[in-house]
Amino acid sequence: MCLFSDSLFKCFLKLSFRNFFHKPVKNGFADISSAKALSNNTIMKTDKLMEKQIDWLPILSQCKENIKKEIAPLLKTLNQPQPSLGIGAGGDPIKQIDLAAEDAIIKTLKEYGLSFTLISEESGIKNYGPNPEENYVTADPIDGTTNLMRGIPFYATSIAVSTKPELRAVHTALVADLFHNVTYTAEKGEGTQRNGQKVTPSKQASLEEAVVGVNLNTYKIRKVAPQLTRLIEKTKHIRHLGANALELCYVADGTTDAFIDIRGKLRTTDTAAAWLIIKEAGANITTPDGKPLNAKLDPKEKLKFIAAANQKIHNTILNLIKA
Ligand code: IPD
Ligand code: CA
Repeated sequence: MCLFSDSLFKCFLKLSFRNFFHKPVKNGFADISSAKALSNNTIMKTDKLMEKQIDWLPILSQCKENIKKEIAPLLKTLNQPQPSLGIGAGGDPIKQIDLAAEDAIIKTLKEYGLSFTLISEESGIKNYGPNPEENYVTADPIDGTTNLMRGIPFYATSIAVSTKPELRAVHTALVADLFHNVTYTAEKGEGTQRNGQKVTPSKQASLEEAVVGVNLNTYKIRKVAPQLTRLIEKTKHIRHLGANALELCYVADGTTDAFIDIRGKLRTTDTAAAWLIIKEAGANITTPDGKPLNAKLDPKEKLKFIAAANQKIHNTILNLIKA
């Protein structure tokens, strides 16, 4: 007699089918202990609790595709009055489009039968499935919402997967520029790819010639102004594009040479995926004191960082910021 409900049984088959025949397993874990109920099943012949590593990249890629589908109708209604949906876990007003993107992530992960803890800028920290502590999925469903709402074509979705709710435990990441169809992905130890092609950061060593992104959105401008002034004085090409995750990816692939955010306002949900993308590309990212960047993954946790394409330009910027 099968001890499991129909839906759980179907869910197990789906996960097993995907993991065994389509999607080889790699990072993180899926609890497929329900295999115990299928002692004669050809897929799993075991009584033991089995944990399989999951190949997260195709799953994250599917999340991105589903986000694109979900937000497509809403993109046509941006000039209409928007409903008031309260304040998200990250402290900003929630837009319908943020929620649609978040729902697409949740639905996709559920379809894969995964257990996970979602750490999201919109709905905060929520558990899904029987073993949510097995996988932590940190998401900013839309990074650069203001750009999107105002028709500025620079916004992204950002999803990171980790084994613990900690930045340095992130093992798989995706940041997708939803307007230009450019997707950055990284897996721990496997490098960073842009639309499937390996990327490397720039070798630019001259700060004067470098293209340097600086997040200037801050109410505490007086506090950080002296540090920023020293940097801006020495740089001919300052940029502020309005979507942190994507701006970090631009350092990873050599589009820009550095990106700094020393406001103390940026959430870990916006940074988690791009942190791995930067590291795996071989670029640098540290605190403004030059220490390794780490933080609890939580929508309320804030970060400051300096990301730079290479050690030389990183040191130059650190010295100016610290001085
Ligand atoms: C924002 C962007 C922006 C940064 C803000 C973030 P959101 O993310 O990353 O570049 O200056 O601090 O809040 O709110 O669009 O997800
Ligand atoms: Ca957001």
